[in-house]
Amino acid sequence: MLLTTQFAFVKMRLMLCISSIHGIFASILKKVCFWVDKHEQESFRTGESLIESEKNHAEKTPKEDVTTPTSVNYHFTRKCNYKCGFCFHTAKTSFVMPIEEAKRGLQLLKEAGLEKINFSGGEPFLPERGDFLGEMVRYCKEELQLPSVSIVSNGSMIKERWFKKYGEYLDILAISCDSFDEATNQAIGRTQGQKSHIDNLYKIRGWCQDYKVAFKLNSVINTFNIDEDMTENITQLNPVRWKVFQCLLIDGENAGENSLREAERFVISEEQFQDFLERHSSISCLVPESNEKMRDSYLILDEYMRFLDCREGRKDPSKSILDVGVQEAIQFSGFDEKMFLKRGGKYVWTKADMHLEW
Ligand SMILES: C[S@@+](CC[C@H](N)C(=O)[O-])C[C@H]1O[C@@H](n2cnc3c(N)ncnc32)[C@H](O)[C@@H]1O
Ligand code: SF4
Repeated sequence: MLLTTQFAFVKMRLMLCISSIHGIFASILKKVCFWVDKHEQESFRTGESLIESEKNHAEKTPKEDVTTPTSVNYHFTRKCNYKCGFCFHTAKTSFVMPIEEAKRGLQLLKEAGLEKINFSGGEPFLPERGDFLGEMVRYCKEELQLPSVSIVSNGSMIKERWFKKYGEYLDILAISCDSFDEATNQAIGRTQGQKSHIDNLYKIRGWCQDYKVAFKLNSVINTFNIDEDMTENITQLNPVRWKVFQCLLIDGENAGENSLREAERFVISEEQFQDFLERHSSISCLVPESNEKMRDSYLILDEYMRFLDCREGRKDPSKSILDVGVQEAIQFSGFDEKMFLKRGGKYVWTKADMHLEW
């Protein structure tokens, strides 16, 4: 009887033991299953988020039509002391960006691929008697280290002290001159009072030589100068480049309603333009720019740092690069990179690479 009771007791302990071992195993198994499950879910989720982030990246990655602002014309002022009757960038505002903001915009352009900046206007030497321009020229060459810094000016406000202070930072200075006849310049409005535009041009040519700045010339061919032969003067001045523009009409600037100029009387035909080019074919540095070439082959930035789209024959502004960044603004620039290259927009534009005799 005692033996039977002891046997039953041992059996019960044994069963209890087996049951608790089973419980422990079951709990371990449950834990392992839970861990595997959790891990699988996590790796699935990680995969999901990778796909998601790649999708986001793809959406954010610029499409193929990204435009690089390699060469930009910054018209930072519209004010001018001349009254050229055909002018297509007129004094519609007197706004000039504070210099620190202008520098911020220039830095954004540099980060987006800017290589050449050309300062234009209006007359760029007007604000702060050229010191505003000088500081931007210095900033672009010394701090941003742009390969090419250039200016286009009517030349009337330039003093030798400017060359002394800022000449070393400037690659190219382009002066506009449409005629070597004083009366024609007066008739066009390319003058201030009775001052000689031509004498001033030759003086600046000399300073460019003295202060090692490459000298360039721009001429607008129009009904007032169409019959002129400029060969002798251009040969004497010996510019690195002579840009010859066919006079262009821009609605809202020099044509149509709300424009400050009426340039219709300056307009010439394609044949007349070709005749002028033919007459000057001996000049190797001549770079012709017909209306077709000009319209969409420039990246133009206005006084608010907005790109101007000229494709519709007027200047439609984008938002400012300071507000939306370069890539968003540049989509509204109407810029045609192929035409830019076709018109020879990319050339040797660093003065050190031009191997000039100073
Ligand atoms: C708007 S100006 C500003 C810089 C400076 N005031 C000057 O005249 O050189 C820039 C260039 O555009 C040229 N230009 C002005 N009006 C034009 C027009 N209707 N067609 C073609 N070129 C023009 C000027 O002769 C100059 O070379
Ligand atoms: S083209 Fe004549 S009027 Fe126009 S900004 Fe130049 S100098 Fe001034």
